[in-house]
Amino acid sequence: MEHRVDLRTAAITQTSPGVTELAVTAERDERTAAVVEAVLHGKAIAIPFAKFNDGRGFSIAHLLRSNHGFRGEVRATGHVIPDQAIHLLRAGFDTANLKSSEALFHWQSSLSHYKGAYQKAARNPLMQRRLANQRISDEQRASKLSEQVARTPDLTQRIREIGESIKERIAFSTSLGKEDQAILHAISKAGIGVDVFTLDTLRHFPETLETLRKTEEHYGIKIRVVTPDPADLEELIAHDGEFGFRTSVNSRKACCMIRKVLPLNRALKGSAGWITGLRREQSTGRADIAHAAWDASLELIKASPLADWSDNELDAYITENNIPVNPLHDAGFPSIGCQPCTRAVSPDENPRAGRWWWENEDGKECGLHGRERQLEVA
Ligand code: ADX
Ligand code: SF4
Repeated sequence: MEHRVDLRTAAITQTSPGVTELAVTAERDERTAAVVEAVLHGKAIAIPFAKFNDGRGFSIAHLLRSNHGFRGEVRATGHVIPDQAIHLLRAGFDTANLKSSEALFHWQSSLSHYKGAYQKAARNPLMQRRLANQRISDEQRASKLSEQVARTPDLTQRIREIGESIKERIAFSTSLGKEDQAILHAISKAGIGVDVFTLDTLRHFPETLETLRKTEEHYGIKIRVVTPDPADLEELIAHDGEFGFRTSVNSRKACCMIRKVLPLNRALKGSAGWITGLRREQSTGRADIAHAAWDASLELIKASPLADWSDNELDAYITENNIPVNPLHDAGFPSIGCQPCTRAVSPDENPRAGRWWWENEDGKECGLHGRERQLEVA
């Protein structure tokens, strides 16, 4: 049986997700393919060391974190030795394969020289409890905020409460859809500092880009536009073609991954809070979203101030406040994504029926949300 040490706790790890292997010589396109595969199938990425002093394994792990925004498990396999434990941890590895379970002591001893919290947690049960308590307190803080927001009727006040509860940087991702236009309006009234960004997949409707321009003009602000990594995109198109997303659900998710999810991971770096326009009414998969919840994979509080709003309430707020919206909403598009993957719906259809309409209901998320399930190895 394979033994593995968790470098953060210095304990033998019990989890055993599948792995995708990545050579220490892997070029960017291979790294991208491995990240896409790992995220889509909930796998760990294993980097095999042929000899313990091969620095390329460390660089690859670092690039997976910093460049690709990968948050799943990165595992060191092959010839790694306990003396490297701290170096592996710092490079971005989570786990390392052990030659035998007896070797665990040597890894623990090596990790004990680490001054950071990981070492303390490994050696000191008190610190271990403290870290667990920290996680609980993040969750409690989020759930307290959620209850507070739920009790507050006014949207601007909800945004202020989010700002008061999350003291560090808060990001707001706007798709420029009507939910997000309402939230932006409230943010501008609340007078709190928020990093507003949009993910330009390079596949948007012209109307969406025009809404971006009009919105910036209306509020006198600049919205940060985050685009996919050109090298990732080149690799995707070389592999699947320009319209590969129609051929299989996996190709579609790979496209969403490269055009949306990885850019989102990069955009949220350094943020302690993330505001989104999710609403429970939008789909059954969203029926139980909280107004605020701790997102363990992103390590931030994800706030959805419109969680309990109905479509009618939202429309009334937009009319009342004269908020500019994407003209496609009036042309039968309640939910607007990329042009090739969004169609108009009839009044009796589900509002999200026009997104990836050729797929089953089950898989109809692009991966921006519900990542806790996708990245459960993290
Ligand atoms: S999606 O995951 O299916 O695309 P949806 O369009 O319902 O999501 O939007 C839900 C929330 O996800 C939005 O309120 C916004 O916070 C975020 N979001 C979706 N698309 C984008 C985008 N292109 N740029 C920034 N945020 C987005
Ligand atoms: Fe690609 Fe369609 Fe996803 Fe846009 S919605 S990123 S075009 S698969």
